[in-house]
Amino acid sequence: MNITKICCIGAGYVGGPTMAVIAQKCPHIQVTVVDMNVERIQAWNDADVHNIPIYEPGLAAVVAEARGRNLFFSTDVDQAIEEADAIFISVNTPTKTYGKGKNMAADLKYIELCARQIARVAKNDKIVIEKSTLPVRTAEAIKSILDSTGNGVQFQILSNPEFLAEGTAVTDLLQPDRILIGGETSEAGEKAIAALVAVYANWVPQDKILTTNVWSSELSKLTANAFLAQRISSINALSELCEKTGADVTEVSRAIGMDSRIGAKFLKASVGFGGSCFQKDILNLVYIAKSYGLTEVADYWEQVIIMNDHQKRRFANKIVQTLYNTVAGKKIAFLGWAFKKDTNDTRESAAIYVADDLINEQAELAVYDPKVSETKVLQDLNYLQSRTADENQAAISYFDSAYQACQGAHAVAILTEWDEFTDYDWQKIYDGMQKPAFLFDGRNILNAAAMEAIGFVYSGIGVVSSE
Ligand code: UDX
Ligand code: UDX
Ligand code: ADP
Repeated sequence: MNITKICCIGAGYVGGPTMAVIAQKCPHIQVTVVDMNVERIQAWNDADVHNIPIYEPGLAAVVAEARGRNLFFSTDVDQAIEEADAIFISVNTPTKTYGKGKNMAADLKYIELCARQIARVAKNDKIVIEKSTLPVRTAEAIKSILDSTGNGVQFQILSNPEFLAEGTAVTDLLQPDRILIGGETSEAGEKAIAALVAVYANWVPQDKILTTNVWSSELSKLTANAFLAQRISSINALSELCEKTGADVTEVSRAIGMDSRIGAKFLKASVGFGGSCFQKDILNLVYIAKSYGLTEVADYWEQVIIMNDHQKRRFANKIVQTLYNTVAGKKIAFLGWAFKKDTNDTRESAAIYVADDLINEQAELAVYDPKVSETKVLQDLNYLQSRTADENQAAISYFDSAYQACQGAHAVAILTEWDEFTDYDWQKIYDGMQKPAFLFDGRNILNAAAMEAIGFVYSGIGVVSSE
């Protein structure tokens, strides 16, 4: 079996970049990315490659190289399915907002729709690849839908989770720590695995391509995200203790990270993790554990989310307390809205929740983010349904420049670690603010001593504040 035509259903943060890199590295394979969202596909096809719908460093260049050669974006889902030997399913799997498993389980309706569409359209044998993060044993459900047509078409289901992180998607795809491919332990399953291994082998060394059974692959993806998130909640838990005791969380983090058994990465205390994956995947893990009656396992992992919610709330509370227990009518500048730097993605961003708490306290927020639009900021707040859209609009003003956002503010809060924030003329920002000028660094990106020398009342995460 040889893969020459790939279809990817879902042109989002995962499907788009992943397929662009596959197309770049495999000029002999035709890659068609389809999505039912017409606007999104139009943006991927925009003549100006900088208007593609996802901002990722280096992505525009990859798309420019491959698009029109062997990389295509289309809304004709049926045709792409029909032509392909291998179909990646890369659609969204949000947390369920209704019914059984509400707020916990993954909502698989989009996956199921894809499976039904593939079953309806496919006329010859296909490899179907789960790219989206899915609960363990989803492949079984997909397979039963695909096999239900009775038209003799054979499907092999593979699990091939994506480990890219946003903001570094292109380098993560070009130089992955590993590629994981799970498949059926039958002869047909092994052939399908080998066919997909051959695609990645065009640029990934063989020893980094792991093959497992389907369930191990599905569970590894959830577990990897749960472990990463757990490290952040662990260091964030200690950040609160540091603020009480006089230890400095950055020093603690460095000290423990040098233990090779612990490792230095992913130990940065922050205002809380965000992104589309961590919370969703842990909730999913918790739900799965509960569904097997594993209460202790479920409680253990749920604590990671509880700690993260606490960290976000604590940051908002600290702002209120420091500003003499009231922020009503005070202007607070928000620098950053994205869930991390170098992305325009805001899903589950800590900024949204901190903003929500501060608006409840009647603060007036002045938001600036280099890549996030005002529309997106308001959409994110409206999604919480804490108040009406008009009330959110009234509480938020949006600026195209950080200097303007900070002008006349009582406090500045840094929510995202954008590099440009460290390069600002902080003296100029200070001069334009109300005094005392408070600075809450939710990412510990500024130099505390330098900020205090300017005159700021500076407060980082996990260090005793200056006042
Ligand atoms: C994550 C995983 O890293 C990736 O492997 C998986 O495929 C998808 O989920 P992503 O959510 O894109 O990727 O970004 P990541 O870099 O993991 O950051 C997640 C959140 O954790 C961000 O809000 C980030 O600011 C925060 N974070 C990360 C910290 O607060 N401290 C850290 O030390 C690292
Ligand atoms: C530990 C720390 O490793 C050491 O740095 C500190 O100075 C003292 O405490 P120790 O208790 O001697 O050292 O042994 P360690 O190798 O850490 O093992 C502790 C326990 O964890 C053992 O029961 C070990 O069997 C268990 N363990 C360790 C696991 O169950 N799984 C592992 O992957 C590692
Ligand atoms: P991710 O971060 O997992 O990539 P996104 O929400 O960014 O998630 O992207 C998922 C994409 O999948 C969306 O653009 C959505 O329109 C698309 N999608 C969902 N279901 C289908 C479907 N049945 N057919 C085609 N596209 C779909």
